[in-house]
This record gives sequence, structure tokens and C-alpha cells, in this order.
Amino acid sequence: MTTPTTLRWGILGAARINQQLMPAIVAAKNSELVAIASRRPGAAEAILKEYAPQAEQVRIYNDPTELLKDTNIQAIYIPLASQDHAQWTLRAIEHGKHVLCEKPIALSVADIEAIEIAAKKHNVQVMEGFMYRFHPQHQRIQDIINSGTIGEVRSVRSCFAYPMQPARLYRIDRNMSQGGGAMWDIGCYAIHSARFAFPNAQAHAVNAMAKHNEFGADISSSGTIDFGDGKYAQFNFSFEHARRAEYEIIGTTGGIKCHNAWAKQTEEPIISWWTDNGEQHTESLEIANHFLLEVEHFTECALKQQPPKLSLTDAKDNCAIINAALQSVAENKTIKL
Ligand SMILES: NC(=O)c1ccc[n+]([C@@H]2O[C@H](COP(=O)([O-])OP(=O)(O)OC[C@H]3O[C@@H](n4cnc5c(N)ncnc54)[C@H](OP(=O)(O)O)[C@@H]3O)[C@@H](O)[C@H]2O)c1
Repeated sequence: MTTPTTLRWGILGAARINQQLMPAIVAAKNSELVAIASRRPGAAEAILKEYAPQAEQVRIYNDPTELLKDTNIQAIYIPLASQDHAQWTLRAIEHGKHVLCEKPIALSVADIEAIEIAAKKHNVQVMEGFMYRFHPQHQRIQDIINSGTIGEVRSVRSCFAYPMQPARLYRIDRNMSQGGGAMWDIGCYAIHSARFAFPNAQAHAVNAMAKHNEFGADISSSGTIDFGDGKYAQFNFSFEHARRAEYEIIGTTGGIKCHNAWAKQTEEPIISWWTDNGEQHTESLEIANHFLLEVEHFTECALKQQPPKLSLTDAKDNCAIINAALQSVAENKTIKL
């Protein structure tokens, strides 16, 4: 049997992030945008016109459940608010759809386990949308680590931040248990990128501190993940300081810095690395659209029924550390994993 060459996508929710993903689904060589749903009448049409005016014959639904029943749709992109991700991912899987869900795919490890079981049962592929991982700059960094140039990785420092704009205050007007705050929004990137440098190590313990607002949403946080044997990752994220999306990996003989982990297609990706014996390098890499690369990768995996690059085990490990960090803040102590 030959593998189909095009995957038909539906989008669940007229979210702002569609500004990036919608054109990517339309542009991806192996995908086709066929439908979008919004619970707010008129919202889906409006963003379709604004973000992907070139898309043709896209069906509009005012009810996400009706979109899921559309048998013409094979894959669903979920850009709903974070607290809605797990339930809609499960519903989409139960309708036999492949699912690319925005980060964080769920707020608890138990929910990701349920997603994993459902995906196996319905024989569909599911991936958490950490788009930054599809930018080739991270593969370049991985290659430098693998070459042994910086020795054995011992420490990571990641920092993700931007000053919260008034128009986005709705992201922090609810408690973290309802998906509000910086951890679920940007902290998950800081932890994800910190973990990437220790691919074979499991976290042993997490310690974190945070500042919260009057709604119980975290605004700034810092913490340390203990990967055992003296290997530590320090993360910092904030809605109160200058824009930053960087990480630095230090090995026994050198280090590497990724200066813009969220590099968009308009931004030059720059990495630098150095060694103890005096080597200093700055590399300006080719620009790339990580959203497009993410969509093309996931589409190919869905078409070929292959597991995607970001596994649900990775999602569970990230979620476990996030929840340990939140518990550490709440109980003011180090949490063992
Ligand atoms: N990968 C990335 O680079 C990236 C960047 C930003 C955000 N994200 C993630 O993507 C997800 C969505 O983030 P976002 O900032 O795009 O969310 P958003 O614009 O707040 O939209 C989230 C959902 O809320 C509803 N909504 C949108 N505008 C609304 C309004 N004015 N009033 C009431 N409801 C509204 C929409 O559902 P309905 O249309 O059904 O009402 C939408 O799907 C989050 O999980 C976030 O973590 C990822």
C-alpha cells in the first residue's frame, strides 16, 4: 500500500498563535488546511482571513465537537488555552485523529498517561508542540555536544522571559491550577530546553522559588533541577523582565550558548561556543521557520504512522519536573522525583 502524500488538518480554536501555525499548515508541502472551529461565532472566519487569506475552501465550525466529527479531517491542531489541552486532545484521539497540541499538552502527568493509552488504542500519533526544537540551530548544538568538543555536559542555565503586555494580562488573571501564569506559558520552555542537554539523565530533585500575583499566577520564577552526579540545570523565567530566550550548556572542557532559542524566520539564529584551550566561535546559522518544520515533521509522521521527534515520554518527563517545581514553591522545600 502506498503512503498518502497529504494530511488534511482541522484547527480547534481561533487563538492568536494561529498567526504562526495556520500559514505553516497552509504552506507545508504535505498538508492541507480543511477546517477551523471557534466557540465564538465569526472568530474563525476572521483569523482565517487575517492569518491565511490564501487558504481556500476551509470549512468553518462554530462547535469544536462538530469539527471532530468531520471524517474528512485526519489531524487536529489544538491551540486552545492550556487548561483545555488534555480534554480536547483526548476527544480528538477518540475521533481517530492525529493530534498536534500546543505546549503544555497537559497540566498533569496522569493526563498525559491517559493520552498515551488513548493514542495507542486508536493508533494515532500525538505530539506536544514545542516548535523551537525543530529549528536546526538546536541540532547544530546537539552535534557540537556529540562531537565531544565541550566534554561531558555538567551544567545548564536557561532563561525565558518577556515583559507582559497589557493586552495579554488574561494569561495571568487565573490561578496556576487553571493554567494561568508564567510556568505553563514560558517556564515549560525553560525546563524543556534545560532537559535537552541531559538526554540520558533522569531528574532526581527540583527546587524552585516564585513570585505570584493576586490571582495566584506565577510572574517570575527561578529554580534548579538536580540530574544527579553533580549535574544541575538552572532555569529562570519571567513576565517582568526584558525579552530573553536563551540557554547555555557547560561541559567539562567548554560551553555553548544559544542566543535566541525562539528564533523566528525573520531572526538570525546565533550560537557561540568556546573551549578551555582558548577556542572561541560564533556561528550565524541559516534562518528557518520552526513552525513550518514542526508541521511538516508531524505531518510526515502521521502519514507514515511513525512516532514523532517529541514523544509523550518527553512530555511526561517535562510535566513531572514542572509539577515538582510548583510543589517546591508551594511547600518551600526541595522535591524528590
Ligand atoms: N508555540 C508557540 O510559539 C506558542 C506561542 C504562544 C502561545 N502558545 C500556546 O498556544 C496556546 C494558545 O495561546 P494563545 O495566546 O494563542 O491563546 P489565545 O489567543 O488566548 O486563545 C486560546 C483560546 O481561547 C479562545 N479565545 C481566543 N481569543 C479569545 C477572546 N478574545 N475571548 C474569549 N476567548 C478567546 C479561543 O478558542 P475559541 O476560538 O474556541 O473561542 C482560543 O483557541 C497556549 O497553550 C499557549 O501556551 C504557543
